[in-house]
Amino acid sequence: MAESIPESELVQLFRKALEASKFSYSPYSHFPVGAAILTDDGSIVTGANIENRSFGLTNCAERTAAFAAAAQGKIRFRAIAIAAPKADYPVGPCGACRQVLTEFAPADTPVVFGSNEKNIVHTTLGELYPYDSLHELAGGGQSK
Ligand code: THU
Repeated sequence: MAESIPESELVQLFRKALEASKFSYSPYSHFPVGAAILTDDGSIVTGANIENRSFGLTNCAERTAAFAAAAQGKIRFRAIAIAAPKADYPVGPCGACRQVLTEFAPADTPVVFGSNEKNIVHTTLGELYPYDSLHELAGGGQSK
């Protein structure tokens, strides 16, 4: 079981995601997204969506943050926050990002997302990505 994280810490993490959305490179969609990941060493790694003129090459904020963390050797995530400040409802991670996040975090990892601090959805990775499979092939990032 993941050690529980106080709500105030998750709100703090959401604020970091909101800050990170300012670095979004989204000249095509004009839809900034930021993500912040708390890793098991207590540090926070952020990311934003980075678009490309070849639209399919766009990288979501969640994967930018996940890959940045992994590239620093931080492959165990304790909590994930996502902020899409221009959305009029809380935008959860896309399917591809849900799969990527499960490489580095177990099902009980808290995930929070929203467009602003007053309307944050609190859930877990397992709720967002049920019936996850191929755990036996995962390289260790899911373990505590
Ligand atoms: N986007 C994210 O970065 N994360 C999400 O969870 C949803 C969508 C980005 C991709 C694209 O740059 C823009 O938002 C519009 O889809």
